[in-house]
Amino acid sequence: MTAVEETNTRDTATPPTMHGALANMDEEHSYWLDSVEGEVPSDIHGTFIRNGPGRQRIGDTPYGHWFDGCGMLSLFSIAEGKVHFANKYVRTPKYLKETASQSIKYRGFGTQIPGGVLKNVGRMPGNPANTNSVYHGGKLLALYEGGRPFEVDPTTLETVGEYTYDGELKKSNVFSAHGHFHGPTGDWVNFGTGSSGMGLKGPKLCFNIFRINPAGKMIAKGQLPVDYFPFAHDFALSSKYAIFFINSITMGPIGQVMLGARSIAEGVDFDENQPMQIALVDLDTMQEVRRIETEPGAIVHFGNAYEEGDEVVVDAMWADQFEANEALSDIFNAEALKGGEWRRYRINAATGALSFEVLSDVNSEFPSFDQRQACRPHELTFAAASVENGSDSFFNGFHRANSNGDIQLHTLEPGFYGSEPLYAPSTESEREEDGYILEVVYDGFAHRSSLVIFRAADISEPIASLPLRHHLPHQFHGFWNNEVLLKAALAG
Ligand SMILES: [Fe+2]
Repeated sequence: MTAVEETNTRDTATPPTMHGALANMDEEHSYWLDSVEGEVPSDIHGTFIRNGPGRQRIGDTPYGHWFDGCGMLSLFSIAEGKVHFANKYVRTPKYLKETASQSIKYRGFGTQIPGGVLKNVGRMPGNPANTNSVYHGGKLLALYEGGRPFEVDPTTLETVGEYTYDGELKKSNVFSAHGHFHGPTGDWVNFGTGSSGMGLKGPKLCFNIFRINPAGKMIAKGQLPVDYFPFAHDFALSSKYAIFFINSITMGPIGQVMLGARSIAEGVDFDENQPMQIALVDLDTMQEVRRIETEPGAIVHFGNAYEEGDEVVVDAMWADQFEANEALSDIFNAEALKGGEWRRYRINAATGALSFEVLSDVNSEFPSFDQRQACRPHELTFAAASVENGSDSFFNGFHRANSNGDIQLHTLEPGFYGSEPLYAPSTESEREEDGYILEVVYDGFAHRSSLVIFRAADISEPIASLPLRHHLPHQFHGFWNNEVLLKAALAG
């Protein structure tokens, strides 16, 4: 792994942990990356967008969970072998009020407003818009699963405001951070937890499902009933189906949250007696057509999905626990963040038969693949990996799984920490192998981050490494868009 110059004097016997990158990045930048080790390929053209909490503290107070820091978009605009960097916070009400007061003004997933129960009773968590982004239908949206999306102007990174798809997303709707592209149509499908009305036992819980066409119009909605409130972060999308794994991570009684007695995160539990359910929703009718019960499990993220005859093939990261929540709730002291094993499920939509194979048992998370293969059989999937190299307090590598069974693992040097490895296509070729992997790497020795580029065909060594002038706080998710839209990057 390449490193910036400052690392020449580093003490490799005691490599730094990931915690340095939890430092706030309060400044907003816009500049060209003028130092390159290696060469940026001329056949990458577009924008690599990352979203994540840019600050973990406000004033002197840390947020109560990694999920609660305010969302900051980081844009790497890449064209003609040059890279421009810019970052800007999403101007949510939470960001604006907390910046002005330099104190916690909103509850979060794991954060309570200081001052006890009375300060929290009846208050919904704020929306930090910090988890993911999408550019679809001409709109750049910053996404967070506990609220509606925020529109951001992709030419300036200025926040436009909360986005509702012409009023289709109601005030009570939430919209997950993991929508998926429907390859055959170019539609984008997303979901959010909600209720379908009141029943004898209280609100009837459901997943609301939303389908948006390439022009950005919401063209269909559906509802999938669920009988308990699971941690529902992502789903999978094939050509015919939205596939939901209703997992064994439960959220506890929501009443205690509403009364202000605890945060949502404090109720999160892996219930080993709760079987996981898999539900198929037909995209044409938006109706559930199959539900299967299987062993308890925790799946947070999914890769691609596609059909082979009656079988629906789904890539997913499976674990038999959700210890990650404890680490995320105490991120400043967390010793390790781990993922799961990489499974390829096969669900027979006609018979309900279910099977899976383990594609890779490397501990992994944040799967990524060539979006041109969305809902179609694909060869390559990439994922962040946690490898025991004496310095594994965060994802410290990534790997590449070929559907033919070949696995290639890239392990960073101790003291370096990676992120979701995002696939960017080549402008010259439609082959998955000819694309690139974009990885933001944090150098704990120099307290500085770099954009590192690998060939998708061979991730053994990077082909370009571009240090930023500063660190980037660990991010959650990225998005690739085949256009450069930022005015500052077009002016160069
Ligand atoms: Fe996620």
